[in-house]
Amino acid sequence: MKTQYVCQNCGAFSQKWMGRCPACGMYDVMVEEPVEAKLAPASIRTATLGKLDSARPRRQSIGISEMDLVLGGGLVTGSLILLGGDPGIGKSTLMLQIADQLARGQGTVVYVSGEESADQVKLRAERLGISGQGIEFLAETDIATILTAARNASPALLIIDSIQTMYTAVLASAPGSVAQVRECGSEFMKFAKETGIVTVIIGHVTKYGAIAGPKTLEHIVDTVLYFEGDRYQQYRILRAIKNRFGSTNEIGVFEMTATGLQGVANPSRLFISDTAASGSVIISVIEGSRPLLVEVQALTSPTFFNYPQRVTTGFDQKRLALLLAVLERRAGINAYGLDCFVNAVGGIKVTEPSSDLGIALAIASSIRNKTITQGTLAVGEVGLGGEIRPVYGLDLRLKEAEKMGLQLAIVPTRNETASNGKIDVREVRDIREAVAVAFGS
Ligand code: TYD
Ligand code: MG
Repeated sequence: MKTQYVCQNCGAFSQKWMGRCPACGMYDVMVEEPVEAKLAPASIRTATLGKLDSARPRRQSIGISEMDLVLGGGLVTGSLILLGGDPGIGKSTLMLQIADQLARGQGTVVYVSGEESADQVKLRAERLGISGQGIEFLAETDIATILTAARNASPALLIIDSIQTMYTAVLASAPGSVAQVRECGSEFMKFAKETGIVTVIIGHVTKYGAIAGPKTLEHIVDTVLYFEGDRYQQYRILRAIKNRFGSTNEIGVFEMTATGLQGVANPSRLFISDTAASGSVIISVIEGSRPLLVEVQALTSPTFFNYPQRVTTGFDQKRLALLLAVLERRAGINAYGLDCFVNAVGGIKVTEPSSDLGIALAIASSIRNKTITQGTLAVGEVGLGGEIRPVYGLDLRLKEAEKMGLQLAIVPTRNETASNGKIDVREVRDIREAVAVAFGS
């Protein structure tokens, strides 16, 4: 097949590769693409939308509940799923476990690896306690061979590990280049749609340009999942960032154990420690439909340099500056001359404004060197006037706090009557009041 090089910025093309687009002058934008004859049969017709049957997508549940939740109920027939994540995060492990689950119930799974040999994959399977019954393995990188083999096997699921090692002989570009990743991606899409075989392609997130990352494929595939978390922490979060067949809000939480990934039914316990110290309080974040409790810690100490440090992990640094200003002006708690460090336990990223109050109280606790009663939840957005603004999903958050055995919740004032559960719910109007409740002064 003939190919040409197309500018990704302006669409100009040339017969040979160039470092710089001759039309728009941008560098590194010429990507190899096949030249296709785009002739359709003369008999082609459009269809009236209103007359079409709205067939519900057919789904098969995987049997790994965290995974089913993220996908919106299971794998949809003929869909193409991209699983992205940092190298070493556990993508191959997750897919092997899913392969095993499906092979037990739904039929064969074809696992294609361009990264690891049969021996290596077998070793991992053994470590995971997976017999490999019903899992067909192929070590291959040529996509023409792979598609033929997959057609012959006609599996319930095809797994490609990873897209960056695959190539089509149609293009001269190297495996992993934008051109190859994109062309192979669309080949797999065509394959999934034609055969109805669910196809999952694994893509490594890459930091540098030579190898194309999963972003290159996001617009092609039906569903984009990212597997995130800290390599050095045990927990992993699986997040759908695009889903043509479901919501993108749900997350799945897994723990990496010695025997593979385990779904965490009760994720809050990962992010709360058992001991209370000054400067620590529990906040709540909502991921999809799930409330998650997270401990935040603050530490203040006298500044050694002229300029006090403001350091955050998992929380916006500018937001910290704002909270410090509000604490000083509206509650008389002064961080002047103090370094201030804020940390969300477990390496989770906290972006919800509802975490403001908890973080402000953790700072106040450290500055005053007074502990807040262990098991205190604080939720509320803090305004510049020191007012505590309402947050959504308060009932959900309180229920989770109750489930986790917390005793006290400091929350914004609201109109409904407070829940009469086991947890003591204290409504506060402003930061001064919140501080009074937290420290009993
Ligand atoms: P892997 O699935 O190979 O990551 P990826 O495919 O995303 O590159 O997982 C790699 C890490 O997972 C590796 O550092 C070891 C760890 N691991 C466990 O902790 N327990 C296990 O049972 C397995 C199979 C892997
Ligand atoms: Mg891998």
